[in-house]
Amino acid sequence: VVISVKATGGNATSPHQYGFLHEDINNSGDGGLYAELIRNRAFQSSSIFNSTLEGWTPINGAALSLKDLDEPLSKALKTSMNVAVSSSSVSKRNGSSSQVVGFANDGYWGMDVKIQPYTGSFWVRGEYEGSFTASLQSNLTSEVFGSTEIEAKTSSSEWVEHEFELTPTKDAPNSNNTFSLTFDAAGVKDGSLDFNLISLFPPTYKGRKNGLRIDLAEAIEGFYPTLLRIPGGNMLEGNNSNAWWDWKDTLGPLKDRPGFSGVWGYQQSNGLGLMEYLWLAEDMDLEIVLGVYNGLSLNGDIIPKDQLQSFVDDALDQIEFVSGDAATTKWGAVRAELGHPAPFKLQYVEVGNEDWLAGGDEGWETFKEYRFPMFLEAINAKYPHITVISSGSVFDGYEIPAPGAGDYHIYGTPDSLVDQFDLFDNVTIPHIIGEAAAVHPNGGLGWDAGLLEYPWWSGTIGEAVSMIGYERNADRIIGAAYAPIIRSLDRWQWAAVMIQFAADPAKTTLSTSWYLWELFAGHLMTHTLPASSDFNPLYYVTGKNEDKGTYLFKGAVFNATTDEVPVSLAFEGLRPGTEAELTILTGPEDPYGFNDPFTGVNVVKTVKEKVVSDEEGRFAFSMPDLSIAVLETKSA
Ligand code: AHR
Repeated sequence: VVISVKATGGNATSPHQYGFLHEDINNSGDGGLYAELIRNRAFQSSSIFNSTLEGWTPINGAALSLKDLDEPLSKALKTSMNVAVSSSSVSKRNGSSSQVVGFANDGYWGMDVKIQPYTGSFWVRGEYEGSFTASLQSNLTSEVFGSTEIEAKTSSSEWVEHEFELTPTKDAPNSNNTFSLTFDAAGVKDGSLDFNLISLFPPTYKGRKNGLRIDLAEAIEGFYPTLLRIPGGNMLEGNNSNAWWDWKDTLGPLKDRPGFSGVWGYQQSNGLGLMEYLWLAEDMDLEIVLGVYNGLSLNGDIIPKDQLQSFVDDALDQIEFVSGDAATTKWGAVRAELGHPAPFKLQYVEVGNEDWLAGGDEGWETFKEYRFPMFLEAINAKYPHITVISSGSVFDGYEIPAPGAGDYHIYGTPDSLVDQFDLFDNVTIPHIIGEAAAVHPNGGLGWDAGLLEYPWWSGTIGEAVSMIGYERNADRIIGAAYAPIIRSLDRWQWAAVMIQFAADPAKTTLSTSWYLWELFAGHLMTHTLPASSDFNPLYYVTGKNEDKGTYLFKGAVFNATTDEVPVSLAFEGLRPGTEAELTILTGPEDPYGFNDPFTGVNVVKTVKEKVVSDEEGRFAFSMPDLSIAVLETKSA
């Protein structure tokens, strides 16, 4: 393929091309990116999920039960755990009277224990004289890796918070560990103590309080994302119109967060709230696409027109919380109190999620008729600089009113992703690709057969072709988000994700698609430049990065009829003898090969080499079938 790239005539490229959607699916929030180690730390419930003692076990015969006390820890956290000690709960060991009782928590399918400071806290109500012992130990051998004594300052008439730090003296050999809190039964005055909000954090990403798990945050940061879409996905819509993801419930002290009736089959803590997402965006320098609830929920509940205004007002408050001035706006002041006086940057607000889906025809029609227009008008009246994004695209049959933008989602086969290549060539309205991933094999049963369990190599190449297509149109494609981004190997609802994890960080696995995104996102263009040649089986985009002063080529070969596709590439005006770095990713022989968290085998082969242009200014290289390449010159 002979490619001659012109020096002018392309389009400016949006700087947010490569990003991700985060919502709490697959325990990617609680027990995942959110670093809290204690599962079910506050016995939260909702209209969908009851409070349970899941995760908790008694020690030495203590009796654990859930109680809704007359004076709960807070309005948000109504249920607590009562720990009763009786004479039978006092065990005798070694002939001496050991009165140690308490409870243990096995975390989110284990806990990673290392020689590092853990920060913990718990609330107690009830009279107790003595001290508490917080420990981390093996579930298999009971070996204690670290423990600390916390002097009790309890009271029978109020809840008292206890804080502690615990540094193990030994790394645990595996993640089959528990956290325990024990105390002397003899010191308990009235037979029992009540506990709530029992929390334990390892060190977090960037050291943030209530922060993120370091290895997962770094795995995300490692593919150089520039766009973050939050908080869903389906999470935003909620199970019904009384149970959508209300951002106000996610703010402030943990004891004021009631939790969320997650839409993926589990109660959620609200620990990973709006503020935590904003810190994440700031720490990774991500542009946010902020989802606002728009009156459609997953069960098809639709808010009628005459009741929608309060939701529009709520969205305006949410935008004010994120970006309002701390001195002059109510919600800006709240944000300042929570530690961020300066407004966060906010350019993109999305109204709802997949409105063409949950409510059937009525949902989609009401979206077009009044729900999107009401939000668009109100948001742009107050914030004219914000791009308001419809939760559907022009391909979902919506002539999106100006100055709105669209959102297009594609979960496809490799072939259907390759078909994306020119999909946006003639679309004039800006769009995000709010969710994208290869999830089904070609020629299979599609959604009827479920999703493939891991991103696989030919799926990744399909994604590469679609991304190249989006990047060619990046004056109108604001950015594309991989979704969903991470999955717990212990409980998941959606298989194909970019990063798999378990409690043990050694299981954290970067998928084949992660390597594609790392390569493409790590080589951003500021402008595309037109080129001469046709596409198929080589799909490519060419351009430049004016900030770095380089020329770029990104390409993918899909379904070539020869083993290798020779490429001859020249950039107009580039002098002969220019040096470039060429990176080529190839995969396993089996196009369905994947990166397996259980074997640790990485099937992606990365080869980097220096190439120099010949006397005609041409770079010559070849790409095998099912490969991806980036070439970036050292200078322009
Ligand atoms: O990414 C998983 C789900 O797929 C999202 O929550 C939803 O928007 C889409 O249907």
